[in-house]
Amino acid sequence: MNANRPRVLVTRRIPSSVLEKLQAVCDVDLNDSQVPIPPDELKARLRDARGVVSVLTDRMDADVLASGSVLQVVANIAVGYDNIDIPAAAARGITVTNTPDVLTEATAELTWALILAAARRIGEGDRLVRTGGWKGWTLDFMLGTELRGKQLGVIGRGRIGRAVAAKAPAFGMTAVFAKEDMSLDELLVSSDVVSIHTSLRPDTRHLIDKRALARMKRTAILVNSSRGPVVDEAALAWALGERLIAAAALDVYEREPIVHEALLGLENVVLAPHLGSATRETRIAMIDLAVRNLIEVVHGRPALTPVVPPQADASPAGR
Ligand code: DGY
Repeated sequence: MNANRPRVLVTRRIPSSVLEKLQAVCDVDLNDSQVPIPPDELKARLRDARGVVSVLTDRMDADVLASGSVLQVVANIAVGYDNIDIPAAAARGITVTNTPDVLTEATAELTWALILAAARRIGEGDRLVRTGGWKGWTLDFMLGTELRGKQLGVIGRGRIGRAVAAKAPAFGMTAVFAKEDMSLDELLVSSDVVSIHTSLRPDTRHLIDKRALARMKRTAILVNSSRGPVVDEAALAWALGERLIAAAALDVYEREPIVHEALLGLENVVLAPHLGSATRETRIAMIDLAVRNLIEVVHGRPALTPVVPPQADASPAGR
């Protein structure tokens, strides 16, 4: 170990091309695996670390942050940062960084995949074919709904929400934003597809609850590729089961990787395993940005993309 080089912790295996960049300027303690470091070990390994590259399943709470007595930066490989206690980090003078922009398109594309899958019943059809239930083409078989001429309601006015909305004209849809174009309530009442792109904050937890679902059209589709707890999963299962809304498509869950039991039994919900940013191109870009953020801060320079938490207000700001 070289005393002049900052010691840093990387909590997961990262591509060697990015790792080498980091190793050129820091002493790296690498968890060379995709298995999370247990909390007590994480605290021990943070003890003399000036920076940590973390992922969204690393819980960086006040207790964990307190173990990093010389910690200067938490560089999270995600645009979301609800795994990090931001006030506790701020109180300790620890910079927190995230990875905006680089994952916008991948997440927007995944969102459209979910919208199309729900509208055209792709998951349900796939299950039917695999289990031998498909008996052949008929006029009224597995009819879905067309997107053309319909309204896409976007909750969250950030980069991802805007990128999703930008693709709406390609499908003949009109996009509207909650707060910007109409109230959230008006959006729920009038939209054919409601897509959620807000960050998770106390004021957005269970933003979509029983009451909100009951306001939606019976023909509507709900899509969530933001954070699971924005939707009350039990309420969603109830609404889907009662056919208060037509369908849903989820990429994120309240207690990942656990999915609410009642959702698993429903045909009218598409369930993806948190794939929003999961493309090769985007993951490399996210990891690279996190590492560059860390390098800047441990060398006394400003972070490239520091987290600036949005102010809580009634309008769901986006990511
Ligand atoms: C993020 O960056 O917050 C995503 O959820 C990771 O896929």
